[in-house]
Amino acid sequence: MHRRRHYIYPDTNSLISAFCCECATFLEESRELERPIHIALSGGSTPISIFKQLAETTLLEDWKQVHIYWGDERCVEPDHEESNFRNAKTYLIDPLGIPENQVHRIRGEEDPAVEAERYGVLLRDQLPVEYGSPVFDWVWLGVGEDGHTASIFPDQIELWKAETTCVVATHPESGQPRVSLSGGVINAARRISFIVAGARKSAVINDIVMKEGRYLDYPAFYVNPNSGNLEWYLDKDATDWL
Ligand code: 6PG
Repeated sequence: MHRRRHYIYPDTNSLISAFCCECATFLEESRELERPIHIALSGGSTPISIFKQLAETTLLEDWKQVHIYWGDERCVEPDHEESNFRNAKTYLIDPLGIPENQVHRIRGEEDPAVEAERYGVLLRDQLPVEYGSPVFDWVWLGVGEDGHTASIFPDQIELWKAETTCVVATHPESGQPRVSLSGGVINAARRISFIVAGARKSAVINDIVMKEGRYLDYPAFYVNPNSGNLEWYLDKDATDWL
């Protein structure tokens, strides 16, 4: 059953709080599964507020089955201010004391092509594999103003359909190399949630949701999980076209 849902909140704080409540519910329900739970975190700045709130509102016990991964990583040192891992470590992992063996970072400091290959092998070892793809229980995604998601950018949209589990991408403005999940792995997830806030995202969200403008050029448009389980967590500023 396809369950594409849009949740729109009056402001960013209520969006973050609602998503954190959903996380708490997910963690509680996952405990009945009695198996490891695999979540891929999104990068960028939006999830930082989520990490901070989860660190305050959940307990280490809640995360005892959870294995943390990333949808993408900037090819920088793990302690670099632009590292997606660093943000999660600073605001979620360390405050809760989530054990290292449950945290599987993309090694931004390594050669991108070598790391993309290594991470792909790791995902295939750690996650269930269905129809050739490692399957995450939950993938969190953001959307860039240019319609990118994870680190698949419009000028490299062919990477979305890459046969490999992970790909090496390049930020179109900075030239910064990135390692990213490919579109097939993202869409293999049992559940995908976009978390998007702010007026600067309004135009791209309008185009994607309403299939207007250059939506076909936007990698985020192609997020369409085989499970049908896709959610948009949005604030009002990101949907002022509604
Ligand atoms: C990254 C992300 C990227 C991000 C969007 C939104 O590494 O930058 O994974 O896809 O989610 O660019 O970023 P903001 O939350 O900072 O707007």
